[in-house]
Amino acid sequence: MHCSYYGGVRILSGIQPSGTPHLGNYLGALKQWADSQNSEAFYCVVNLHALTLQIDPEELRSQTFDGVAWLLASGLDPEVCTLFIQSQVPYHAQLSWLLENVATFGELSRMTQFKEKASRQDGYRAGLFTYPVLMAADILLYNAQEVPVGDDQRQHLELTREIAERFNNRFGETFTLPVGVQPKSAARVMDLQDPSRKMSKSVSSPLGSLSLLDDAKEIDKKIKKAVTDTDNEVRFDWENKPGLSNLLEIFSAFSGETPEAVAERYTRYGDLKGDLSALVAESLAPITARYHELRANTNQLNEIIDLGAEKASKVASATYERAAKAMGLI
Ligand code: TYM
Repeated sequence: MHCSYYGGVRILSGIQPSGTPHLGNYLGALKQWADSQNSEAFYCVVNLHALTLQIDPEELRSQTFDGVAWLLASGLDPEVCTLFIQSQVPYHAQLSWLLENVATFGELSRMTQFKEKASRQDGYRAGLFTYPVLMAADILLYNAQEVPVGDDQRQHLELTREIAERFNNRFGETFTLPVGVQPKSAARVMDLQDPSRKMSKSVSSPLGSLSLLDDAKEIDKKIKKAVTDTDNEVRFDWENKPGLSNLLEIFSAFSGETPEAVAERYTRYGDLKGDLSALVAESLAPITARYHELRANTNQLNEIIDLGAEKASKVASATYERAAKAMGLI
């Protein structure tokens, strides 16, 4: 794990447009995207990935615009970086097919996220299985050196590197090998009601997940009710105090202190929870307000995504052509 950024590093990352982002999405991804953006950074709303889920077409369309508005509200500046919608750049799906013939059935079968998601639905879609290959295509099309993501995407990143390396060995030097980058704190925000599993849109209970649309009252209620433990010592210790350590990491991600330093200032869980809920509410309020403003202006969003699609396509088409040619396609 590292988190150093310098100007000009080529970055790509993406987020699914499947409902309002939660605190894990914000701290694991959106916040670090805003902090690391530069003229060589590409961020996308991955609506092709959302097709693997049960999602109504109208809802998908609308949530894709929501996603763009959340990226902007989190601080991405389309005059600095490139912000685009995955389906508007056809090379993602095209490269994915080429890479499906480099990745193996065996390695896709070992993907934890696939196994988890497949076990929760009958008749899951074939796209759920090949999903990580599409993700590899997203990354490799942009010659990304760094991919800022939460901890749960680590295995997909490893697979991307393997696919790229295999391709390069078989067909000649074509792709850049990317590394995953995680934030110092809160790379894995846990469910507030069950700190043994990550905060998630699809699995967490309403009290377990904190949405970016929650108001100060809801934030306070969820943090006050967050599951901790019964021995009343404030200490950063993931093994023995996962619930409390999760809260300390969230605190640390917003305040910039280390979780240990935060822990030292408190003796009572209640005081820590009170200050944390105020800090979270205060930090999220301007983002939520900006989201509502941006979401109401569809013309502006359309201008931004048109520009993004154009900028992204230039880079993606060159990489796609190189890869297709290397594989012998005419
Ligand atoms: P998605 O849409 O599930 O999540 C978006 C980002 O949020 C991070 N994240 C978390 N971080 C910390 N704690 C959590 N509880 C938590 N939950 C989610 C994710 O790690 C991610 O960074 N497959 C990806 C989307 C994707 C992508 C890509 C990412 C498609 N193509 C190319 C990077 C590069 C996904 O489903 O993320």
